[in-house]
Amino acid sequence: ETTPVAIIGAGPAGLLLSWALRDAGISSIVIENRSQDYVLGRIRAGVLEQGSVEYLTNLGLGDRLKAEGMEHEGIYLQYGGERHRVDFNDLIGRTVTVYGQQQVVKDLVAAHRGAGATVYYEAADVAVHDLESVTPSVTFIHEREEHTITADFVVGADGFHGICRSSIPAARITLFDRSYPFAWLGILADVAPSTDELIYALHEDGFAMHSMRSHAVSRLYLQVDPADDIANWSDERIWEALHVRLAVPGWSLTEGAITDKSITPMRSFVASTLTYGSLFLVGDAGHIVPPTGAKGLNSAISDVTQLAAALTAHYRNDDSLLGRYSETALARQWRVQQFSRWMTDMLHRSPGDLQSDAFDYRSQVGQLDYVTHSPLAQRMLAEQYTGLRL
Ligand code: APR
Repeated sequence: ETTPVAIIGAGPAGLLLSWALRDAGISSIVIENRSQDYVLGRIRAGVLEQGSVEYLTNLGLGDRLKAEGMEHEGIYLQYGGERHRVDFNDLIGRTVTVYGQQQVVKDLVAAHRGAGATVYYEAADVAVHDLESVTPSVTFIHEREEHTITADFVVGADGFHGICRSSIPAARITLFDRSYPFAWLGILADVAPSTDELIYALHEDGFAMHSMRSHAVSRLYLQVDPADDIANWSDERIWEALHVRLAVPGWSLTEGAITDKSITPMRSFVASTLTYGSLFLVGDAGHIVPPTGAKGLNSAISDVTQLAAALTAHYRNDDSLLGRYSETALARQWRVQQFSRWMTDMLHRSPGDLQSDAFDYRSQVGQLDYVTHSPLAQRMLAEQYTGLRL
């Protein structure tokens, strides 16, 4: 089998790249080691930057997004029992859209199926070869049959734990990372959100957030110790902590049946390069952000936007974009990393020694006081939250 572009991973990055290439008349094959049901069932991010919405819409993926996505013109920042709104639309004329990653993937899977695209699910022993050459290949086993796909390019869209990044020789790549002394306990609940827009709260007990997936499903988060076990968190205990941390006078949180709960560690990570020979990395394979700024999925979409354009130019005899892909994608990514870290540090309690901890907390309150009262600081937040345009 041969194809111009072999894509490893059918997460949002891999499926979207394949779809964008098809739009430009370039065919590709996607190879995924999990089942289609698993890919469709994975619960992840839920906020799309305006640029992400525009890109998906331009590729014909905007119908359900437009009908079911919830456009939000701002967010709430909360601290010291007060809730302040930051109005992105008012400040800079841009918005975000709440639409779950699961829904984006569902739309992509349906589009691929409708177009008869080749996606191998449940591929075993996926391996990449000859990445230094102009004829790289991918081997795997699918339905007990051995496959070899020879391509012009291999794209690693196989997430943080994938095989593509680790097939780059150690001497050619450096990994930069930062871990955080806290994690997010996230729940999905069958209840209408108690808020019209997302609430990000700093409380003495730790961060809390009220997000949503639809008019009937709420998504809520609590900062917890990364070593904590979800078994320690009964539904009652979760709601109790949410009531305390999200409380403001005159507002109440409505409880509902919890349908999913899990604890996720937080990490910042960037690879020094997204290119090696004929291999290109997109999405979580190349970088990870803590979830506070809602940048994971949007960064994957941004990579795809750039790589799809670069590959399209390549097949029109212009290699300049492809040569610069790693550099331009990483330049944007580092700006996004900085923002995600800024949001994370501003809103989480650092469980250090008590004295510096008390100082940090008051300094964070000062920071939130500044951000919520300075139009300039709010514009800065708005510009980054709704998505950098580069
Ligand atoms: N062979 C084939 N497929 C693989 C392999 C492998 N060896 N290893 C991993 N995969 C698949 C995974 O099963 C998964 O379906 O690659 C896919 C990677 O998808 P994601 O992890 O969703 O990553 P990406 O598409 O880059 O999307 C980024 O994920 O974590 C969130 O916030 C992040 O929303 C962002 C999104």
